[in-house]
Amino acid sequence: MARTLNILAAFLFLLSASKTQAEPGVFDVTSATYGAKPGSDITQALAKAWTDACASPTPSKVVVPSGTYMLTEASFKGPCKAPIEIQVQGKLTAPADGGKLTRPDTWVCFEHVNKLTVSGGGTFDGQGALAWKKNDCNKNKDCKSIAINMRFDFVTNSTIQDITSLDSKNFHVNVLGCHNVTFQRVNVTAPGESINTDGIHIGRSTGIKITDAHIGTGDDCVSIGDGNKEITVTRVTCGPGHGISVGSLGRYPNEEPVVGITVKNCTLTNTSNGVRIKTWPASPSDGIASDMHFEDIIMVNVSNPVLIDQQYCPWNQCKQNVPSKIKISNVSFKNIKGSSATPLAVQIVCSSGIAPLTSQCSNVKPTITRVPNALACATSL
Ligand SMILES: *[C@@H]1O[C@H](CO)[C@@H](O)[C@H](O)[C@H]1NC(C)=O
Ligand SMILES: *[C@@H]1O[C@H](CO)[C@@H](O)[C@H](O)[C@H]1NC(C)=O
Ligand SMILES: *[C@@H]1O[C@H](CO)[C@@H](O)[C@H](O)[C@H]1NC(C)=O
Ligand SMILES: *[C@@H]1O[C@H](CO)[C@@H](O)[C@H](O)[C@H]1NC(C)=O
Ligand SMILES: *[C@@H]1O[C@H](CO)[C@@H](O)[C@H](O)[C@H]1NC(C)=O
Ligand SMILES: *[C@@H]1O[C@H](CO)[C@@H](O)[C@H](O)[C@H]1NC(C)=O
Ligand SMILES: *[C@@H]1O[C@H](CO)[C@@H](O)[C@H](O)[C@H]1NC(C)=O
Repeated sequence: MARTLNILAAFLFLLSASKTQAEPGVFDVTSATYGAKPGSDITQALAKAWTDACASPTPSKVVVPSGTYMLTEASFKGPCKAPIEIQVQGKLTAPADGGKLTRPDTWVCFEHVNKLTVSGGGTFDGQGALAWKKNDCNKNKDCKSIAINMRFDFVTNSTIQDITSLDSKNFHVNVLGCHNVTFQRVNVTAPGESINTDGIHIGRSTGIKITDAHIGTGDDCVSIGDGNKEITVTRVTCGPGHGISVGSLGRYPNEEPVVGITVKNCTLTNTSNGVRIKTWPASPSDGIASDMHFEDIIMVNVSNPVLIDQQYCPWNQCKQNVPSKIKISNVSFKNIKGSSATPLAVQIVCSSGIAPLTSQCSNVKPTITRVPNALACATSL
């Protein structure tokens, strides 16, 4: 009996081996079916491989083998029939001229996918140098939108790991309306002078974890916008960049509360801020930012290591004398160590419009060198 079964198994194996040359469930863009080749544009091949993989009733994997490929744009839409992985081993390069994109604000986008894995050790190269020179979005409210390297819109139960976002034209990674997504060992690299190149920006999402990331860029390493809950940032190195920030909040009407932020075991080097919470004055509606905890953080030559700024108003785009209506509460800074590049190590500029303020400063025990009155903040509240 066992013998017959073995023979049957062998027969079935041969049968399946003869029907598909490739590993089942694997959609390799360089296979004969899709025909992508290193050095050429793989936009069509990748789109087709995704469509086929997404329609697969069993778990599937789209593979981009090592090599450098041009990618004009990509829109990976779900829902898919089963868990799906996209393994990028090679380097994908964007057009340097963002004018070629169908959606000028997006290079690569994942939308409405559940159980997505992005992996492979590869690089998404946004070729941003040209765009940074023209970007005036830091001072012009009506500036043209510029491409974000990778968008995750309404992605759920997913893992993004072992990839690098390089030289994005705008934000590197934008997370919107996502639930239960882990970013691990994701690197972000762009020059310190590149404009608006936030590393990972999170908006209106819950259960997002960022861990073991190395982020060096021209704007915030991680920025957490409105409507976020249960966000955890651990073992992230940041620098160059503008630090890890909650906000800015209170710029637009009807923003949603930010609740439950943990930033732990991170190292910031040479950044213009450490950990900060920023809210605009003259916010159009009330807002809430609470339960935010910053712990075990090392600052190396950071310019504003700990900062709560409720008068955040870059380039005077607001009425600075009208207080912020964002209520900040249950905030702690614990075990923040290192060196400050400026004498003002801990700065808490709260809103005069909300009293009493419950920000907790008493847990700050900075072992900050070169600062004579590092603990002044702890006694002033
Ligand atoms: C989060 O996603 C992972 C991976 O898909 C899954 O195993 C886990 O059950 C999800 N957790 C929640 C709370 O939904
Ligand atoms: C995410 O996973 C959780 C737990 O397995 C599940 O309840 C939820 O429906 C999933 N989300 C989606 C959009 O499928
Ligand atoms: C991310 O950067 C770290 C430190 O430089 C490196 O060890 C790791 O291999 C990088 N990961 C990827 C996916 O390139
Ligand atoms: C912090 O990170 C370091 C190095 O990655 C690790 O050795 C240490 O266990 C971590 N500590 C905590 C509390 O996670
Ligand atoms: C910090 O930045 C300065 C000037 O930009 C640079 O010379 C220095 O090497 C950087 N230090 C570290 C530790 O990266
Ligand atoms: C403060 O935040 C922590 C962590 O999110 C939470 O467990 C705790 O209940 C909050 N405390 C208050 C007084 O809201
Ligand atoms: C410290 O930061 C300041 C300001 O960014 C920079 O000019 C200086 O070179 C940095 N020093 C080191 C030792 O990295």
